[in-house]
Amino acid sequence: MKPISLIQFLIEERRAGHVNAELSLLIEVVARACKRIAVATNKGAIGGVLGEAGTGNIQGEAQKKLDVISNEILLEANAWGGQLAACASEEMEDPQPIPDMYPKGNHLLLFDPLDGSSNIDVNISVGTIFSVLRCPDGVTNPKAEHFLQAGTTQLAAGYVVYGPATVLVLTFGHGTHEFTLDREVGSFILSRRDIRIPEETGEFAINMSNQRHWEAPMQRYIGELLAGKDGPRGRDFNMRWVASMVADVHRIITRGGVFFYPLDAKIKSKGGKLRLMYEANPMAFIIEQAGGAATTGRGRLLELQPTGLHQRVPVFLGSKKEVEVATHYHVEADRAQG
Ligand code: AHG
Repeated sequence: MKPISLIQFLIEERRAGHVNAELSLLIEVVARACKRIAVATNKGAIGGVLGEAGTGNIQGEAQKKLDVISNEILLEANAWGGQLAACASEEMEDPQPIPDMYPKGNHLLLFDPLDGSSNIDVNISVGTIFSVLRCPDGVTNPKAEHFLQAGTTQLAAGYVVYGPATVLVLTFGHGTHEFTLDREVGSFILSRRDIRIPEETGEFAINMSNQRHWEAPMQRYIGELLAGKDGPRGRDFNMRWVASMVADVHRIITRGGVFFYPLDAKIKSKGGKLRLMYEANPMAFIIEQAGGAATTGRGRLLELQPTGLHQRVPVFLGSKKEVEVATHYHVEADRAQG
């Protein structure tokens, strides 16, 4: 079969009425920027891109050089094309306006420029995650409050994983699709259309070192998985944890599985570890469009009304059946407590 490039795919999506010209251009621009990030990531030590940047982000986390480089690549690429009203990045406190000298569009772009950046220096997969919202009508200079839209309103979401291959996964709310970067040609080529995540799985991803800090329902659920064949679930489960959400999610959309970053006593006051607007919402949209489920452990992630641009939330996502069991345990425990 003739390979289908991302550009061809976007033209098809326009013809199908799933995207307009502006959104299609936006995705092309983001994909192009991610190719540049892939090049920088690939150079590793010889590109001088490894190590600390010597700065901190809004979350108070030390930034890696590649965090800063990736953020700049995405901001610069998206400033001038006329497809955006503003950008927001996990790395910056406030939204970035479009400079006055450029035309403005009707979309808001949010991104985590380099997710899993603690893995850069050890040559393990990292990625970029993005989400696209509509700029509210009549708003010409969007502020943080205009980005605070529930995940159900996302027009598009995607991620790029910089792994052995550079892979883009994308949804416009009409299925989840995968594109693999052909480095010689310089194009993303459609490699999987309409990905489906198996409903059942025997593989889970969680940072077990936090076990003693989890809430009781999480202890119960993971305890049952660990008990394997001899426990109430009657089967053995396998565990994986990359510490790059993009890589863990990519495994899940490839062969099934569940991913948890639950609330624990250490992070309770922050609301969770992962960011709703830059990580949880786009991943939840991608996972649901592939037939999986995504919750906060208590309710559907995409229905959560955001209260802050950098808000953190617990995240449960992946194969539907396991997300449902873990969520049910939390809801049941809350009910029992009244
Ligand atoms: P960061 O981008 O700051 O490295 O955070 C990575 C995120 C996510 O990608 C990953 O699943 C999780 O944090 C890992 O957290 P732990 O280090 O606590 O396991």
